[in-house]
Amino acid sequence: MEKLKPRIIRLDEVDSTNEYAKGIAPDVPEGTVVVARRQTSGRGRRGRSWASPEGGLWMSVVLKPKKVDPRLVFTGALAVVDVLDEFGIRSGIKWPNDVWVDRKKIAGVLTEGKAGQYVILGIGLNVNNPLPAELRETATSMIYLIGAKVPLDKVLERLVFHLNAWYRLYRARPDLLMVKVRERTFILGRIVEVSQDESSFVGRAVDVLDDGSLLLDVNGELRRVVHGDVSLRPL
Ligand code: ATP
Ligand code: BTN
Repeated sequence: MEKLKPRIIRLDEVDSTNEYAKGIAPDVPEGTVVVARRQTSGRGRRGRSWASPEGGLWMSVVLKPKKVDPRLVFTGALAVVDVLDEFGIRSGIKWPNDVWVDRKKIAGVLTEGKAGQYVILGIGLNVNNPLPAELRETATSMIYLIGAKVPLDKVLERLVFHLNAWYRLYRARPDLLMVKVRERTFILGRIVEVSQDESSFVGRAVDVLDDGSLLLDVNGELRRVVHGDVSLRPL
């Protein structure tokens, strides 16, 4: 596998870097990065909105893997965890697509793929951006945790570096990627609430399986949940 060559497209403002990346994906090489100073319509999963004012890192990378694999989301989450480690911030993955520090969300990863063509891996990381009032209880940022402004370009450079490394490992040894995912998934052993559509249930998170799904112990019965439509809340 070739090294991802980070060709970086920098935008001032865009609706969503994921949308932009989808538009250009057929015509650009794997590894092309789209980064915007702000997004007017940043998105999370299931069309939920992602607050993306200036100061944060809002980026998407075009990948062209053999298949649309839900485990790709972990390459993004682990890259964020590594960058935060470098800045002295200890974080963990809230399966499947969030990165949390203590009890707050600092980053989210959104993968969107078209079979046989591309996967867009979008990362939103709160760096120097203000958080809207309604997120202050549930979200945090690097500037808040460090107590000083953080060089955004450096964060991007390190994020692309680590993403490259995890993506290469994914291609060569996805089983080893999953070892690292288990190591940094902070919900393992904890009681979590899983919500899907209108229903929800509570169980103990036991393991992340090699296919990326989460194994839960629900009243003594093992139950496997896959990414997609589940939302998970540590209790
Ligand atoms: P959770 O349900 O724990 O938020 P999720 O992964 O199921 O996780 P998503 O739909 O993927 O949720 O993420 C979107 C959610 O992230 C929004 O509902 C909002 O609560 C939260 N959010 C939006 N913008 C930010 C931000 N900049 N930083 C942290 N959290 C944000
Ligand atoms: C989540 O936790 O729901 C994932 C949030 C992903 C946000 C990023 S910001 C860059 C890219 N563009 C988007 O519209 N979403 C992702």
